[in-house]
Amino acid sequence: PPHPLVSVSILSADFGRMAEECRDVLSRGADLLHMDVMDGHFAPNLTMGVDMIRGVRRHLPDTYLDVHLMVERPGDYVEDYAAAGANMLTFHVEVCEPLVSGGIKAKDLIKRVHDAGAEAGLVVNPPTGLDDALRVIEPVLSDIQMVLVMSVHPGRSGQKFMPEVLPKAAGLRQLAGPDLRIEMDGGLNTQTCRDAAAHGVDVMVTASALFGSDDRTAVIDAFHRSNA
Ligand code: DX5
Ligand code: ZN
Repeated sequence: PPHPLVSVSILSADFGRMAEECRDVLSRGADLLHMDVMDGHFAPNLTMGVDMIRGVRRHLPDTYLDVHLMVERPGDYVEDYAAAGANMLTFHVEVCEPLVSGGIKAKDLIKRVHDAGAEAGLVVNPPTGLDDALRVIEPVLSDIQMVLVMSVHPGRSGQKFMPEVLPKAAGLRQLAGPDLRIEMDGGLNTQTCRDAAAHGVDVMVTASALFGSDDRTAVIDAFHRSNA
């Protein structure tokens, strides 16, 4: 089978040398860059926003930018983020109807993402079960390009992997078939990525395991070999 893609979360990069850090991981085989946008409400941290995406895009015209919106109101930003250079915008089922009454209508927001020229995905937090996630995802399954299964609580890099989310990834894979990308985010390292791959994950996010290693090439290779 084709190897899983590695989406490098720049949250653990040296922010003072961002372009250099991005070029380094890409030269070592990283496939995508994962950008964690937080608003201090949906996730208890402030990280980066549209200007970081625009800045990275200016230095890396051809790199796929996978933008993870951990925000309460993703609808406020879609066109700006796409114009800044995001290739993929993912937003959380936990801010959508029917899980939140008066929440985001996923179908409408996905259409706006596509109209703005980006791909679209939905994200599921650890406490949200497969059945609840599917209340949002199933009606739009043929419209989205990716589902992201969180394996830590949103907020920061360096947390411990939560293996209890693995069956949720496997259930999504079974339902969606081979074409949907299933991404996992949080606590992945050269060991846990193998469990993720065995449960249908084909896009692996990594921040601390990669940036904290003195052999980044070996870490990316291990992620690429995780389904072997
Ligand atoms: C967590 C973010 C992740 C995080 C992953 O809120 O969504 O992308 O940066 O970091 P690691 O790989 O260190 O768990
Ligand atoms: Zn993320």
